[in-house]
Amino acid sequence: MYMTLKPRYHSPAGYSAEASGTDKRRLYIETYGCQMNVSDSEVVVSIMKENGVGYTEDITRADIILINTCSIRENAEQRVWGRLDHFRKIKNSKPGLIVGIIGCMAERLKEKLLEKEKLVDLVIGPDAYRELPSLLEEAGTGQKAINVLLSREETYADISPVRTDKNNVSAFVSIMRGCNNYCSYCVVPFTRGRERSRDPESVLREIGTLHENGYKEVTLLGQNVNSYMHKISSPAGYLDFSGLLEQAAALYPGMRMRFSTSHPRDISDKLLHTIARHDNICKHIHLPAQSGSTRILKLMNRGYTREEYLERISAIRNIVGDCAISTDIISGFCSETGEDHLQTLSLMKEAAYDFAYMFKYSERPGTRAAEKLNDDVPEEVKSRRLSEIISLQGTLSARSKEADMGKTFEVLVEGKSKKSDSELFGRTSQNKVVVFPSNGFKSGDFVNVRITRFTPATLIGIACPE
Ligand code: SAH
Ligand code: SF4
Ligand code: F3S
Repeated sequence: MYMTLKPRYHSPAGYSAEASGTDKRRLYIETYGCQMNVSDSEVVVSIMKENGVGYTEDITRADIILINTCSIRENAEQRVWGRLDHFRKIKNSKPGLIVGIIGCMAERLKEKLLEKEKLVDLVIGPDAYRELPSLLEEAGTGQKAINVLLSREETYADISPVRTDKNNVSAFVSIMRGCNNYCSYCVVPFTRGRERSRDPESVLREIGTLHENGYKEVTLLGQNVNSYMHKISSPAGYLDFSGLLEQAAALYPGMRMRFSTSHPRDISDKLLHTIARHDNICKHIHLPAQSGSTRILKLMNRGYTREEYLERISAIRNIVGDCAISTDIISGFCSETGEDHLQTLSLMKEAAYDFAYMFKYSERPGTRAAEKLNDDVPEEVKSRRLSEIISLQGTLSARSKEADMGKTFEVLVEGKSKKSDSELFGRTSQNKVVVFPSNGFKSGDFVNVRITRFTPATLIGIACPE
């Protein structure tokens, strides 16, 4: 899946991201991978705009094509190779067109990407986007340009991202970069570098600007938001994630706060109490388990056991109350037995997840698992286990929606329903999608909706009279 950016820039002066008459060249950008990449593409569009490169959603009008890439699984990279092949064809028929690869795959493959004939002119890693304008100059003179240096400091704190959402309701705010966890299967610490937290003042300022521009929801982003930590001049000397979230929620009570991703090892009671205390902090925690077997979790270097994970689930249920919990699961990790797999299924049932992202293990070169462990679960076993996991989650998700029948939820409207112009869609605090008849409501409204039925993907309801 990829998203093209639909940006709107919201400076008080009000300027549009679509290329204007003064922009000499136009950028088209395609984004793959996680929310961090979506957020980074917004930073890239902003840097380019500042340097007189306009933005276009129409690839045929582009002078520069960038692809922001993901390396998390092999199939993510396969998709990018397919797109690069397509861009090569466009390049052949349009002399002067510059094609660049940015993001995690650029970082992972570095110079190798420049070796293929007429494939890309530019290779830029996630910490080098400020260099884009000068690298573009270089590429414009026919040289190949590359910068894949990772940084210990870069957080792009001072750059106002050009917003990608269509509805002006909800936005991502990146609060940290990188990851130090080194889960044995994961490429992210290699593609994104060391963990660093963004200055809280710049985070709060960005949320403030979004608030002024009518946004109603932000999602604070990081690979492991609960290890956020920044020096401040207070008696404590530092601000942790719970403190940052508390400040954001208190400063902007009319906005909803979401955050992703939480690492099970670092989700403290203090954070859970902060979530419980503020109505505007959404009652949804994405808490990836990866596996239900303590033996596999150890091989994955996740830093918790099955029991410790389930204890955190109980803590969420006890402290936060009506809180949705979602997860990521990997099937068929190195040496996973039928018994380990059953443990994953039973953990899913115990946790009673509201939704889940589920994957087959994909060995990534350079990771600890690739170097020290055997990718020995046959493909068809991985697939069978994955389909059992997906099928169980289908049942759990249906159960979770069934429990919502007849209840009333506050829904933040994000836009018109895809199926019908007379219906709106939005989300509950628990991050469940709700569709209901518009009745004069519009994007950005908070509406109390009573749930009457559900489909596999959505809750359906009607707006309640005040
Ligand atoms: N930082 C987040 C997730 C980052 S990647 C966290 O720690 O939870 C998103 C998900 O991709 C991971 O949670 C994991 O389930 C999956 N993933 C990562 N590496 C993978 C691999 N090599 N094979 C299959 N799935 C993988
Ligand atoms: Fe990857 Fe683990 Fe870091 Fe998540 S916490 S990004 S899975 S290394
Ligand atoms: Fe993919 Fe990089 Fe995100 S590998 S999941 S785009 S951090």
